[in-house]
Amino acid sequence: MTFRALLLTQNDGATQAQVADLDEDQLPAEGDVLVAVEYSTVNYKDGLAITGRAPVVRKWPMVAGIDGAGTVLASSHPRWKAGDKVVLNGYGVGETHWGCLSQRARLKGDWLVALPDGFSTRDAMAIGTAGYTAMLSVLALERAGLTPDDGEVLVTGASGGVGSVAIALLGKLGYRVVASTGKTAEADFLKALGAAEIIDRNTLSSPGKPLQKERFAAVVDSVGSHTLVNACAQVRYGGLITACGLAQGMDFPANMAPFILRGVTLLGIDSVMAPMARREQAWQRLAQDLAPDRLAALTSEIGLGDAIAAGQRIMEGGVRGRVVVDVNR
Ligand SMILES: NC(=O)c1ccc[n+]([C@@H]2O[C@H](COP(=O)([O-])OP(=O)(O)OC[C@H]3O[C@@H](n4cnc5c(N)ncnc54)[C@H](OP(=O)(O)O)[C@@H]3O)[C@@H](O)[C@H]2O)c1
Repeated sequence: MTFRALLLTQNDGATQAQVADLDEDQLPAEGDVLVAVEYSTVNYKDGLAITGRAPVVRKWPMVAGIDGAGTVLASSHPRWKAGDKVVLNGYGVGETHWGCLSQRARLKGDWLVALPDGFSTRDAMAIGTAGYTAMLSVLALERAGLTPDDGEVLVTGASGGVGSVAIALLGKLGYRVVASTGKTAEADFLKALGAAEIIDRNTLSSPGKPLQKERFAAVVDSVGSHTLVNACAQVRYGGLITACGLAQGMDFPANMAPFILRGVTLLGIDSVMAPMARREQAWQRLAQDLAPDRLAALTSEIGLGDAIAAGQRIMEGGVRGRVVVDVNR
C-alpha cells in the first residue's frame, strides 16, 4: 500500500524536501506498531530538519515529523492493539527514525502515549512537542514550589509554539503572565490567550547587567542566549527559570551573580527523552488545564504539501502559535 510522506534527502550537503509517494514496504523495520497518522505538526525542530538549518537529521533519507497522532493499524507490542488512538512526541522520530509528517509510521510501542480523553488526534497535534514542552516547563515550576501568589511569570518567545501554550496554561492556572514578543502587533492575541502585559523582546535580547531590578517570580524561556541571561538577571530572590529553547541562540553568555547572590534556580527542560511517567502526567495535565477555546485560538491548519513552506516560515520566526498538519490533505 502506498502512502504520502514529507521525504528529506541530502545532496552535496544540502537538504531537499519533497512530498513523495512511498510504499509501506519501505518503512524501516525498527518498531512494533504501525500507525495510520492522522495529524502531525510543524515545530521549530521540524523547521530545522526541513530546511537543513541545523544537523537535526542524522540518517538519510528521512521522513520528517517529530510528532504524530493517529490510529494503530497493527501491533505486536503488548500495550497497543489495532484501533487504539496514540500520540508520539520525540524519541528521535524525524531525526534518526522515520517521522510522522506521513500517512504511515512504524513506531516503537514504548514511545507511544494513549490519546488523553477529551482530545482528538488533531487537538494532540495542535499541542505537539511545543505544547507538551510548555506543560513540562509548568510542571517543573510547580515541582520547585511555584504558586500564583509568588508573583509574575515572564514567558519569552510568547507568540511561538512553546510560548503561546505556556501563556494559555499559566493564565488558566491563575498566574499573572508577562509576555515578551517581537510581534507587538499580536498583543491582543496574547492577551486573549492569558497574558496580562506585553513587553517588547528587544528589552531582553541585548547584553545587560548581571543583576537587574528584581521583578519576576519565574520565567518560561524558549529563546536562550541574551534573553535567557537577562531573564535570570530580572528574577526575584529565590526565583525560578525554565530553559527549553534556542530561538535567539544556543549560547548562554551568563554571569554567576543571579545564582550565588539571589539563589535563583535554572531548570533545564528536555521533551525528547523525557521519561514515560512524566509524559503521561504532562498529557493528563494538558487535558485538564488547557482551555479548548484558547487551544483553538492559537492553532492554524495546513495540509502535508504546505508543511515545507511552514518549516521555512518557522525558521524566520513567522509562525503565530501552533501549526497542525492534516497529513491526509
Ligand atoms: N528542549 C526541548 O525538548 C524543546 C521542545 C520544544 C521546543 N524546543 C525549542 O524551543 C524553541 C521554541 O520552539 P517553538 O516550537 O515554540 O518555536 P516557534 O514557534 O518558532 O517559537 C519561537 C519564538 O521565539 C521568538 N523568536 C524567534 N527568533 C527570535 C530571536 N532571534 N530572538 C528572540 N526571540 C526570537 C519568536 O516569538 P516572538 O515573535 O513572540 O518574539 C518565535 O515565535 C526552539 O528553539 C525549539 O527547538 C525545545
